[in-house]
Amino acid sequence: MAQRVQGTEDLFGGYMRAWQRMCDVARDLFGAYGFDAIETPALEQVDTFVHGIGESTDVVRKEMFRVFSGALLPEVLERGSEGHLKARQRMAMRPEGTAGVVRAAVEHNFVPQGGSPSKLWYAEAMFRGERPQKGRLRQFHQVGIEWLGAPDPAADAECIIVLIEYFKRLGFDPAKLRLVINSMGDANCRPAYRESVRQFILDHAEEMCDDCIERAELNPLRAFDCKNDHCREVMEAAPKVTGALCDDCRAHYEQVKRYLDEAGIAYEEDPTLVRGLDYYTRTVFEVEVEGAGVGAIGGGGRYDGLMELEGGKPTPGIGFAVGFERIYLALQSQGVDLAGSEPSCVYVACMPDARDAAFRATLALRSAGIRTEADYQGRSLKAQFKQANKLGARLCVVLGSDEVAAGVATVRNMQTHDQAQVPMDGLAAYVTEQL
Ligand code: HAM
Repeated sequence: MAQRVQGTEDLFGGYMRAWQRMCDVARDLFGAYGFDAIETPALEQVDTFVHGIGESTDVVRKEMFRVFSGALLPEVLERGSEGHLKARQRMAMRPEGTAGVVRAAVEHNFVPQGGSPSKLWYAEAMFRGERPQKGRLRQFHQVGIEWLGAPDPAADAECIIVLIEYFKRLGFDPAKLRLVINSMGDANCRPAYRESVRQFILDHAEEMCDDCIERAELNPLRAFDCKNDHCREVMEAAPKVTGALCDDCRAHYEQVKRYLDEAGIAYEEDPTLVRGLDYYTRTVFEVEVEGAGVGAIGGGGRYDGLMELEGGKPTPGIGFAVGFERIYLALQSQGVDLAGSEPSCVYVACMPDARDAAFRATLALRSAGIRTEADYQGRSLKAQFKQANKLGARLCVVLGSDEVAAGVATVRNMQTHDQAQVPMDGLAAYVTEQL
């Protein structure tokens, strides 16, 4: 039997409705905040991610699905069937949305010199070759926003505010959300801080795992997130970024916190929150749900250097992304069903001699925007009623030769079993009123 790729999921039924609901809520909420939708390709040049996310991150080093165009075998090339593909073109499936959006912003000049900020949101599948487990997939779905050209700490605060509002609208109890924030400094103060952490790891090398020793050179701040409990204990004594921020970064961070306080957003500060992507500067944040056991349901931060890394002019940026699959699980753990109930429908049942009338009635109801089902298998009237119940139809339109002769339809309420005779030309209006 054909099987899906490990760590991927099919979205259908209630699960698909839940994903669509996440997109609908995002469109309404982010639209009100002035964000426009964007969709970038799932395939990008490898360098878009290597430059943006960072060569030393796990995402780029270990998790990116690299794609080589078809013509790996010379004989295939010679046959010419895939000759239109450039041989060995280096591409990757996007592991996250930010780098691609920023690449697009550079390519289409979304933020011209002296122009207004660009505000974009997306809902897309992402791909990371992680070890699959609960809430950790190889193809997963993110909803995110990117706000380019806004250096003001009010943008950081509003980004966090809209994130929390989004979670509320999806059905989370705000008291169960744990928002953690930190400032990671910028190009001015981070290098010295990074060096102090590197030195700390090297000074404690005999107590730390091989991965952390490797991190000391590649990406020392990631040692704060080591999966090894002992390494994390050792790192508790490592220098914290809070004491290493330059005056500008400290002032920016203080202002972000003041705005959050003013908006009544509860947060915890964690000076070891470093995030797994290298492009962050200053504000970073993550949200977890108490007791859900799925890890972070969303995270983001400021990335004032990313535009340049993608070949553009210096342009500040900030954004976040949330993970659909984790949100679905976390809401389930809170007893909230993101899928909601199936949409109600109307069933058109008919005797064989009223098939043409049923065909017309079905079309008329659908033209009026009513979700309508009918029988396409020549079933008995009894079987059609059974099917209508199975589909959860609220109303059944019944047509037989008597109805056809009188130019009416019998409309039956499937719950109360009340029936009414309705003229065919007023059927759609009557059904709309009854639903
Ligand atoms: P991230 O923290 O890597 O950030 O991912 C954001 C969210 O995507 C996570 O909090 C999690 O809910 C979900 N997620 C990540 N990996 C997986 C996975 N393997 N399986 C299921 N869900 C997953 C970013 O991606 C940044 N681009 C966010 C951002 C936007 N920063 C600034 N702008």
